Amino acid sequence: MCGIVGYIGSRDAYPILIKGLKRLEYRGYDSAGVALISERSAHLNVYKVKGKVSGLEAYGEREDLSGTIGIAHTRWATHGEPCQVNAHPHLSASGNLALVHNGIIENYNVLKEKLQKKGYLFKSDTDTEVLVQLIDYMKESGKLDLLTAVRLALKEVVGAYALAVIDQTYPDEIIVARKSSPLVIGIGEHEFFIGSDASPIIEYTDQVVYPEDGEIAILSKGKPLKVVDLSNVALDPEVQTLELNLGQIEKGGYPHFMLKEIFEQPECIQDCMRGRLHVEENEVILSAIIDHKDKLMNAKRFIIIACGTSWHAGLIGRQLIEHYCRIPVQVEYASEFRYSHTVVGEGDVVIAISQSGETADTLAAIELAKEKGAFVYGICNAIGSSISRATHTGSYIHVGPEIGVASTKAFTGQVTVLAMLALTLAKVKGTIADETLQEILQELQVLPEKMKKALETNEKIASLSRIFTYAHNFIYLGRGYNYPVALEGALKLKEISYIHAEGYPAAEMKHGPIALIDMEMPVVVVATHNSLYEKLLSNVQAVKARQGRIIAIVSEGDEVISEIADYCIELPRTVEALDPLLTTIPLQLMAYHIAVWKGKNVDQPRNLAKSVTVE
Ligand code: M6R
Repeated sequence: MCGIVGYIGSRDAYPILIKGLKRLEYRGYDSAGVALISERSAHLNVYKVKGKVSGLEAYGEREDLSGTIGIAHTRWATHGEPCQVNAHPHLSASGNLALVHNGIIENYNVLKEKLQKKGYLFKSDTDTEVLVQLIDYMKESGKLDLLTAVRLALKEVVGAYALAVIDQTYPDEIIVARKSSPLVIGIGEHEFFIGSDASPIIEYTDQVVYPEDGEIAILSKGKPLKVVDLSNVALDPEVQTLELNLGQIEKGGYPHFMLKEIFEQPECIQDCMRGRLHVEENEVILSAIIDHKDKLMNAKRFIIIACGTSWHAGLIGRQLIEHYCRIPVQVEYASEFRYSHTVVGEGDVVIAISQSGETADTLAAIELAKEKGAFVYGICNAIGSSISRATHTGSYIHVGPEIGVASTKAFTGQVTVLAMLALTLAKVKGTIADETLQEILQELQVLPEKMKKALETNEKIASLSRIFTYAHNFIYLGRGYNYPVALEGALKLKEISYIHAEGYPAAEMKHGPIALIDMEMPVVVVATHNSLYEKLLSNVQAVKARQGRIIAIVSEGDEVISEIADYCIELPRTVEALDPLLTTIPLQLMAYHIAVWKGKNVDQPRNLAKSVTVE
């Protein structure tokens, strides 16, 4: 999804902007651009390319890239095809303003028509160009200063935006604003940095401000940060200290972020449980649950809302909460929930799950749930993200920045938090026996070690994966707690290898997908030793009878399904409810290796964005 970077201070802006854009590449994009107010001529220079940020560097040899104030952008096309003209920054008709924008201006057509009637011509198909022309029109026609023009323009805008605008007639100022799209301001010594997230900022400063919805910040050389609302009322920005280091966002010797993140999982889970798991006292404490225990204990039902991988984690959360807390749970795609007629209101607890904390559909679903009177609990990874701020309370998963577009460690972090949430609540409610709780806590404690064992299957999976690069389709089967794992395995494969894959509850196969099975069809079966093992066995036999090629994920010492399967991956045993934390690992590795063998761009797969901040 689009990325914004900005700088104002005394250093050369261009290298900071390019480096910042590269740090945001993981979000996915199709074109990039930069605008600088030249130190030599005092003019506004804009350079844009279709394709990679590296294309912008070619400009270095022949253009004026001087300037200590600039803004830059990576675009992920929504309005208009990916091309140089549609790339940001967009210039205003007067030539004075350049603007970068993330989000969607919903009433851009109405505004465009109005501006066309005033004589404005448009070069691009974007909603963003409408915004810059609107600010230009306000400024020029009303003889206004830049801040006032931005404020008045934003009052006319319906939609979501994070934006940064510079003006060659105000060469010492950047104006930024946000509503429903992410934006961070870094505060250095007499300098400011802007980023869609903290990754372009972190190497310069750890002091940041996250502007709230409807706020405008004025970044002026040599002056303190000023924040106002749309009515120009001065606000007091809260400066926060980032707890993120550069090492956390670099590859650390791995060929891809995705592989690094898969291998980080034991440590991430440890971080996620730190201070929350108290095995000797036989308790697990998520403070947000304890703080709001009455609301949660008395909930008539839980509704989990999320998208993609987070939705899969939600399906596991449902089983955990129903199993141990005996509270009914429904799991909804946030994008459907926000437009559905779901009955939701007081007495409901909505759990919103999101790695990025910026997913537009999830954010909108949260707002709807709050409006209707539900209590909203967030499970996020990105600290200070929009969702973590929009929810009433919540728990972070603490797995560190996830850069690879395909979500891996966030999934296991989400499942771990959901397990802790269910256990905390079950203990408070008295719906779990002490011995059961103790057994699960002991298993959670040793889980990082078991994950390391699961990761030892990497080499075997790498060579196995090579065999399956021929496939155009895959089926993934699982039951119970492992059914969402099958869905997640299929999603991982689709996303990065572009092989079509379907996840199914194993017993549902006979109601349709079984027709697809022949000797060409790889069928991945998640068949660890649990209460549904015998049931799954008959599903596996049905695949075998049709000559499907079975890749089975089994428990150590398995002697039955491993005899039937063509290929086997053995995992350490754990309690059934925690199975997904192990079984998902070989599926992540398999998707990764198949994509690598096929020569795909693993960390930035085509058409996908890391954080989906548009509807
Ligand atoms: O940041 P979120 O968890 O809200 O993102 C939700 C989905 O966009 C995300 O999980 C997506 O499906 C990933 N690419 C999956 O790998």
